[in-house]
Amino acid sequence: MKTDTLLILGGYGNTGRLIARLLLQETDCHVVLAGRDLARAEAMARTLASEQGGERVSAVRADAADPSSLRRALEGCRLVIVASSTSAYAGQVARAALDTGTDYLDLQFSWTKFGALRPLEEEIRGAGRCFITDGGFHPGLPAVLVRYAGSRFDHLTRAEVGSVIRIDWARLDIGAATAEEFVRELADYQVLEFQKGAWRPAPWKAMWMPRTMDFGPVFGRQYCVPMFLEEMRSLPELYPGLWRVGFYVGGFNWFVDWLVSPLAWLAMRVWPRRALRPMARLMHWGLRRFSRPPYGTLLKLEADGLVRGTARHLELTLSHADGYAFTAIPVVACLLQYLDGTARRPGLWLQAHVAEPERMLRDMERMGVALTLTEPLPGRERAPEDHWGQTPAHS
Ligand SMILES: NC(=O)c1ccc[n+]([C@@H]2O[C@H](COP(=O)([O-])OP(=O)(O)OC[C@H]3O[C@@H](n4cnc5c(N)ncnc54)[C@H](OP(=O)(O)O)[C@@H]3O)[C@@H](O)[C@H]2O)c1
Repeated sequence: MKTDTLLILGGYGNTGRLIARLLLQETDCHVVLAGRDLARAEAMARTLASEQGGERVSAVRADAADPSSLRRALEGCRLVIVASSTSAYAGQVARAALDTGTDYLDLQFSWTKFGALRPLEEEIRGAGRCFITDGGFHPGLPAVLVRYAGSRFDHLTRAEVGSVIRIDWARLDIGAATAEEFVRELADYQVLEFQKGAWRPAPWKAMWMPRTMDFGPVFGRQYCVPMFLEEMRSLPELYPGLWRVGFYVGGFNWFVDWLVSPLAWLAMRVWPRRALRPMARLMHWGLRRFSRPPYGTLLKLEADGLVRGTARHLELTLSHADGYAFTAIPVVACLLQYLDGTARRPGLWLQAHVAEPERMLRDMERMGVALTLTEPLPGRERAPEDHWGQTPAHS
């Protein structure tokens, strides 16, 4: 049987290389690492090949800004995983995938990207291609947690998800394109909450006097602000009893949260072109200079609802010491469902809606994400101890 070839654009970046390592570990696919620097792609391919002791990884040069290089690289591939900071070129990458009969998965948070993918929806479906967008941690997981809660309640009334991302940025090599994309995302940030039957802009108070959420013994109570993700939009329709649903993101550090982010947001509104590079540099510097331990990444769901007429409360916490591993693991967990056909359907899908939640959570746990539930998953004797060795939370 022919082995599937999966190409990772950004294959030697922080996220891409972890996706590659996990794909080699979890599947028998051939993995191609791609980016603009062939020497770096080849070096990473050699590292991974020596770790895995096999011949299933190779390298190719591809630039998202250059359609012909993309088409050449994608020829013969089953799927392209877009782990590169190239949301500005989403339309070109999608076009190259369609032209070469390649399926697609990306992990960028970007409204520009949606603007490029949505008009292609009919064509994607008509061509029988499967495009999965908004993969990763967030976007990618918050609606998975809500859908999981939806399967546990007869009637789900509240589902709120919060995140903490504490990364030792000083130890990471982040590309200039990635820092710039991050600032563009900030400018696009939508502060929406589902209130009184509709998605509405949160009051300004929510930004300047944010709500807090308890993230357990390591991170404690942290402030977090509403962040609208496309994957949350349809949840009130899926669960009509939901009166409150939303995603809330925690801060990075005081300097970035209170000084750089508002300044970058304002500067990008006034001078979108001129402000991009200096704001990206300032953001990158602020992340490296002011981030402090404890480090780790955590996603927490708080849900309320009815089970057989009785009010119940559910808390589910997912955590990993490494934020980049926590981005790569959900992508690979989703791809396991795609590769065996259960999540492969023609059309444009969101990762958080195409994957089956319970299997995804179990696969993520197996790949190293610590999972803490107020009660065990069905079929499991007890909830596991979490990453820092605490006992599970209680209802
Ligand atoms: N959904 C989530 O939870 C989540 C979490 C983290 C990151 N992300 C997203 O994942 C992406 C990668 O982030 P990262 O932190 O891993 O970035 P990174 O470490 O800076 O890596 C970026 C990669 O993209 C490649 N790249 C940049 N421009 C390119 C182009 N024009 N053509 C081809 N390749 C290009 C870079 O290689 P060259 O520059 O050498 O070409 C590099 O390999 C970003 O879009 C980020 O927003 C999503």
